[in-house]
Amino acid sequence: MASAGATGREQQASLSDAEQIAQHKRAAARAAAEEVHDGMRLGLGTGSTVAYLLQALGERAPSLGELRCAATSVQTAETARTLGLTVSDLDELGELDLAIDGADQIDRGGWLVKGGGAAHTREKIVAAAARRFVVIVSEEKCVERLHAPIPLELVPFAVQTTLRALGDARLRDVPVSPDGGLIADYFGDVGDPRKLAGALSAQPGVVEHGLFAPEMVSSVLIAGASGVERRAGAKPDSKSAKPGA
Ligand code: 5RP
Repeated sequence: MASAGATGREQQASLSDAEQIAQHKRAAARAAAEEVHDGMRLGLGTGSTVAYLLQALGERAPSLGELRCAATSVQTAETARTLGLTVSDLDELGELDLAIDGADQIDRGGWLVKGGGAAHTREKIVAAAARRFVVIVSEEKCVERLHAPIPLELVPFAVQTTLRALGDARLRDVPVSPDGGLIADYFGDVGDPRKLAGALSAQPGVVEHGLFAPEMVSSVLIAGASGVERRAGAKPDSKSAKPGA
């Protein structure tokens, strides 16, 4: 426990690593919650950082009566509903104003790895449906270079053939996704994330991979000992600014 009167940094030093990380996840989530307003259509990610976001939104649920949420996992949908938030199908909501989600890694160029919670396929669909995508992380998620494992979702048919073609990839010992996909991880070198993302997408049998390009991300809120830093992403603020639109 931190002693009374200790400075912020002293308090941080007295917390275990896990407690500090939890505190940072909570700070990033609370900062993102401030961007949520009544009447919005909001995409909700999956994971422990998002759980803090749900808590913060739940506290404001009485004043968010017109907020409509699309969830990226059964767990997030259930928690959101329990906290008094309205959850609808993404297909009913159409374009989202904002989506907020955590990440497993973020590199200097703004590439993300997601899918530690096996929800990356739905997370990518929801993020892509949002005009703004805000990522919330604790600072230890920041890396110089992305590294394995890179989460995958695979079609069950001939999965061993797909794994062999991928090279260094293995099934993860977790339940199938709610969409019937098998969860696996790629353990090879990442190298250039754009090249790897292209190669994984091009492999028949791969439903989705956990590499998220910088163009998908509007901003990243990174929480650490010195507070919450906002890093701009590369996503244009409006869908109409998308290439080809
Ligand atoms: C789930 C995800 C999560 O956003 C990612 O794993 C981060 O999780 P946490 O907030 O628990 O650290 O991609 O598929």
